[in-house]
Amino acid sequence: MGSLKKNGGATLSKIATSDQHGENSEYFDGWKAYDKDPFHLSRNPHGIIQMGLAENQLCIDLIKDWIKENPKASICTPEGIHQFDDIANFQDYHGLKEFRQAIAHFMGKARGGRVKFDPERIVMSGGATGANETIMFCLADRDDVFLVPSPYYAAFDRDLRWRTGVEIIPVQCSSSNNFKLTVEAVEWAYQKAQESNKKVKGLILTNPSNPLGTMLDKDTLKNLVRFVTSKNIHLVVDEIYAATVFTGGNFVSVAEVVNDLDRFEVNVDLIHIVYSLSKDMGLPGFRVGIVYSYNDLVVSCARKMSSFGLVSTQTQLMLASMLSDDRFVDNFLKESSRRLGIRHGVFTLGLKKVGITCLSSDAGLFVWMDLRHLLRDRNSFESEIELWRIIINVVKLNVSPGSSFNCTEPGWFRVCFANMDDDTLHVALGRIQDFVSKNNNKISEKAMDNNDQVIQNNNAKKQKWRQSNLRLSFRRLYEDGLSSPGIMSPHSPLLRA
Ligand SMILES: Cc1ncc(COP(=O)(O)O)c(C=O)c1O
Repeated sequence: MGSLKKNGGATLSKIATSDQHGENSEYFDGWKAYDKDPFHLSRNPHGIIQMGLAENQLCIDLIKDWIKENPKASICTPEGIHQFDDIANFQDYHGLKEFRQAIAHFMGKARGGRVKFDPERIVMSGGATGANETIMFCLADRDDVFLVPSPYYAAFDRDLRWRTGVEIIPVQCSSSNNFKLTVEAVEWAYQKAQESNKKVKGLILTNPSNPLGTMLDKDTLKNLVRFVTSKNIHLVVDEIYAATVFTGGNFVSVAEVVNDLDRFEVNVDLIHIVYSLSKDMGLPGFRVGIVYSYNDLVVSCARKMSSFGLVSTQTQLMLASMLSDDRFVDNFLKESSRRLGIRHGVFTLGLKKVGITCLSSDAGLFVWMDLRHLLRDRNSFESEIELWRIIINVVKLNVSPGSSFNCTEPGWFRVCFANMDDDTLHVALGRIQDFVSKNNNKISEKAMDNNDQVIQNNNAKKQKWRQSNLRLSFRRLYEDGLSSPGIMSPHSPLLRA
């Protein structure tokens, strides 16, 4: 990849040729493996089930019903065609006024109606991915540092760092207090960065957290706002899961805290929110991301930058109409939480039956699963990756290992549960239950024969399976998982892109 010959003899930029794109982790490798052998209930029942993608597909039927009932909202329909000329020609980077109003209104609803957002501060972006990068470009220069509580969203290494050149310093959270973020941990990371002469520009939170699914309580959030204000650094809160809450617990937005605190406790110019419709509305393909800043200069700069990632006006118009339909939105948000709650309950109960526990959580499209007891060496990330390879190659589930989220403790895995139908979820649960019940210490002979057969078939074209007749211990299975290159996919949409 990137050879001179392949690129027509011309050299490429440092960005194009460096490996700073952040995609070289198991998080993305898992997607590639899935891409090679995707599960389908009838067409490929032994394929890999995708549990590494935080998608919300549980309420797509409600969206489709609304679209059918409102054909006027899509301009490429007989009912909507009269608006075609105006909309197809509109390209102002402020976006359609009705879109900004509807998004601001929706953002308030997604936060329980406890806060209001100003449409004039809504800036568009290509998903939260684009919004996160835009805010970095507005706030920081190359080599500036942002503190990010770990474990953190795996693609931050790409989204925040790759093109901007900013650095991430993790604020380490641990299982000893259920990965709860404390101001002390942030203060410690801040001091360490200062001691190594790093220029700390801010703190980035995802609240609710990806990958943990936990929410920050109001007091902690207040203290973090006071902290950034006292240090004169920025606070960016990625609230992409604001309404993806399934326990009935109240999510507290930083917008609420900004309203609550006294003027001397918060410098609002330092506070910025990233949002998107990818999770709460289950519309990642629409690429609707939002930068919402209390800082006028940031709003103005981000708006100019939004030229690079505008949302199509057809999408804007349709969403303006959908999101201002209060009856639809209220029902959607309620029903989405309800369905997510049921799904989360079924999944975690199924895991519990075979002794697998997850971090207690309120939100998100995933659970943070504790498999420390299955590691060959509880203190080693190599063991975590060994187990991950078994899960992907033999159990045929794409889950994401904690190390790809910069978790400092081996043995945690993020497992997504809302991107599939009920039948697929039950197959996935069955596979996990089967695997765990047969492999507490040692794998059964029958299971191994089956596994050997799968591995043999996969490797047939590449190399002869040397030790297929051996009865294998659990430890051997780990090693085989590691040494079966034919099973992992060298191809994926990411690589082809
Ligand atoms: C915390 C967080 N931020 C940003 C994103 C990217 O979202 P989008 O699809 O809107 O770009 C994700 C997606 O998983 C996420 O979990």
